[in-house]
Amino acid sequence: MSSCIASLRAYEVLDSRGRPTVEAEVTLSSGITARASVPSGASTGRHEAVELRDGDAARYSGRGVLRAIANVEGEISAALRGLDATERALIDATLRSLDGTPNCSRLGGNAILAASVATARAAALAQDVPLWQHLGGDQSSVLPRPMINALSGGLHAEHSVDLQDYLAIPVAATTFPEAIEHVARVLAALADELRARGRTLLRADEGGFAADLGNRDGLELLVAAIERAGFAPGDEIAIGLDVAASHLVAEGGYRLAADNETVTADVWSERLIAWTQDFPIVSIEDPFGEDDWAPWPRLTAALESRVQIIGDDLLCTQLDRLEQAISTDAANAVLVKANQVGTLSDALAVGARAREANWRVIVSARSGETEDDWLADLAIAAGPGQLKVGSLTQSERLAKYNRLLRISATRADGGALARWGSA
Ligand code: PGA
Ligand code: ZN
Repeated sequence: MSSCIASLRAYEVLDSRGRPTVEAEVTLSSGITARASVPSGASTGRHEAVELRDGDAARYSGRGVLRAIANVEGEISAALRGLDATERALIDATLRSLDGTPNCSRLGGNAILAASVATARAAALAQDVPLWQHLGGDQSSVLPRPMINALSGGLHAEHSVDLQDYLAIPVAATTFPEAIEHVARVLAALADELRARGRTLLRADEGGFAADLGNRDGLELLVAAIERAGFAPGDEIAIGLDVAASHLVAEGGYRLAADNETVTADVWSERLIAWTQDFPIVSIEDPFGEDDWAPWPRLTAALESRVQIIGDDLLCTQLDRLEQAISTDAANAVLVKANQVGTLSDALAVGARAREANWRVIVSARSGETEDDWLADLAIAAGPGQLKVGSLTQSERLAKYNRLLRISATRADGGALARWGSA
């Protein structure tokens, strides 16, 4: 069969932080080859798949991935050889059972995901369909609505502010290209606002401005930028936050260094609720720590469906943690990061289960990305939903946005989005 896997090879390439990561290349018996590289987080969750690093201090400060690469070229290549690349469920199940651990710690989540994506891409080529169609089928046609990083803090910006992301969400845009253009206008206005206030325009890992601010100041600044750009805050451009609170956990609650205070989970919850009344916030990610389950349901209930409460570090794209969150109403949206779980099939299964429970699904990049663009296809396949990639700068971010702009240009509907609130 021409879509049979003949072999896999792999090698190190660099991510957007200049750190090595895995790129895998699959060759089919027909001669078709395809490759894929995988991203890497900084504010990683404790429960995510293990990224296998060499730990050899003499190379890349221990961050080399030669062991993961050896696993792709050795065990993984041997196990996949002869399988039909188009049988994605079988390929991904083979990868997971070959690893044999719940968190991919034996072969490495980086080795497994690179093999999973490269194989899916080869399969799409063999079937002569785009990757999104191979992953999602013909019915996956709606593009994801982007939520775009405007201001960055936390581990992505040397803790300039405590909250990791202040995002602009183009809620009124009806197509993907329109959504991008709306946010580009807001980001230009934000640069003007920062300049007018004598603030730095330095950028953080995901391309957001790394301004040194109080946490609430970031909200005021973003609203000012939305207005300066000529949009109605809330009706046209709304605000999303990624608190990434696992990294703020401290004795007695949550440490807000930018505001020089430590608050209990209850006080923090009340503060977030107050902010949603004062600002057009429609999305809050990781408001509490990854193992601090108790306050999540209360906040989710208090904000009802007005605000999507997203579990990232809380859920780590793991089905069992998602089930726990669904049964306790701990959140109402899941962030899907394929490298938190290991394979594309696992990531799609988490997205499908969330949608079945009427949760929203946000497919996300990592803070360390490569110029690969498969995430754009995954976001279409997992949709209709949303996409979180970072700011509108830096080629590792633009690769994903530009792929979706290109796909939009081929669509009769211009890259239509689902109405905000429905996905
Ligand atoms: P990470 O950040 O890739 O550093 O984990 C992304 C996020 O927290 O959403
Ligand atoms: Zn996050």
